[in-house]
Amino acid sequence: MPPLVFFLSSPYPLACFFVFLLLSASFALQPTLHTQILNCANGKAHACGSIRKLWWRTFCLKGFLELGPCCFDKLEAASLNPFDWKIQKGMLWPLLPRKFPYIPGTDISGEVMEVGKGVRKFKPGDKVVAVVNPFSGGGLAEFAVVKENITASRPSETSASECAGLPVAGLTALEAITKTIGIKLDGSGERKNILITAASGGVGHYAVQLAKLGNTHVTATCGARNIELVKSLGADEVIDYKTPDGAALKSPSGKKYDAVIHCAVGFPWSTFEPNLALNGKVVDITPSSASMLTFALKKLTFSKKQLVPLFLFPKGKDLQYLIDLVKEGKLKTVVDSKYPITMAEDAWGKSIDGHATGKIIIEF
Ligand SMILES: NC(=O)c1ccc[n+]([C@@H]2O[C@H](COP(=O)([O-])OP(=O)(O)OC[C@H]3O[C@@H](n4cnc5c(N)ncnc54)[C@H](OP(=O)(O)O)[C@@H]3O)[C@@H](O)[C@H]2O)c1
Repeated sequence: MPPLVFFLSSPYPLACFFVFLLLSASFALQPTLHTQILNCANGKAHACGSIRKLWWRTFCLKGFLELGPCCFDKLEAASLNPFDWKIQKGMLWPLLPRKFPYIPGTDISGEVMEVGKGVRKFKPGDKVVAVVNPFSGGGLAEFAVVKENITASRPSETSASECAGLPVAGLTALEAITKTIGIKLDGSGERKNILITAASGGVGHYAVQLAKLGNTHVTATCGARNIELVKSLGADEVIDYKTPDGAALKSPSGKKYDAVIHCAVGFPWSTFEPNLALNGKVVDITPSSASMLTFALKKLTFSKKQLVPLFLFPKGKDLQYLIDLVKEGKLKTVVDSKYPITMAEDAWGKSIDGHATGKIIIEF
């Protein structure tokens, strides 16, 4: 059956129609979401945190220990991701936020105060790093409740701030490099040529370091001011994304890429296509409707060159793996800037600007 006929007779067109309806509703609701989340992030996160503190304390007394395998943590540091302000802008509605008030933030580092029923790996006083469930939110507050299975121990050799950068950005880089592309981090696999776009950003700077542990040849793109930094992280060749070659994603040495970890946004398939090796794969960590369509078309036409959308489902054991790499000195967090929680508004604005080099950290 011709691919177009197959596509039209499949459930895809109907699914696309529903996605279109949801997106339209989301745009209509954006101003409301923007205002309400801004109230929490806009310098009032601390106040929200205090309210939450009281609430959680009451909750603890009334039966937190019956809740299940969760830890109740006092925060020492948190980090921001574009995901946080995308919720604020209504870009993830109607999935997120579910209800108000919504305290943003997912990446946290802190100390366990209490543990719920069935928690085996942690006890009060343990230093931990965790991902807050985005459906409940709460990473920019003094206390948070996190599930045991997405919590990892933080050894004393590592700092709360550097580990707070790891959860979403580090796990996304790890997932892309190891699971989606199949690079073995002990360097035992076949040597691959990979391109990492936005290699100076939160995800990109971890991706470069992990890819080098896997003995790959890394081409990276970033702005001119960050070229030396990205080289120091291990990239073999670095291109300024504002030059014609950078915009065309061309390797200076003429290499074709076995895989691209696409951490920048935009770029049509036609930009990647000529730069890919025969079975090249583009891992798109910010999937748009256009890239979802490309993904479907490449699958339907059995194309050798593929686009793979990546959605992160964080796991505690992967987070522990990254923390252990930090402890061993094999992975580091480049810190763009640190802000006290009372200046969360400035940190938030910096993240929205989209020019962070590494991670933006908030300290409590
Ligand atoms: N799928 C998932 O689960 C998942 C998880 C994490 C992140 N993401 C998404 O991945 C994207 C990247 O996240 P992030 O945390 O790495 O963002 P980020 O830290 O805010 O990225 C900022 C960096 O990107 C650089 N940059 C921007 N445009 C570029 C371009 N065209 N070429 C090269 N570099 C460019 C900037 O350099 P200059 O300052 O020089 O412009 C800056 O250093 C976001 O859209 C985020 O939502 C998805």
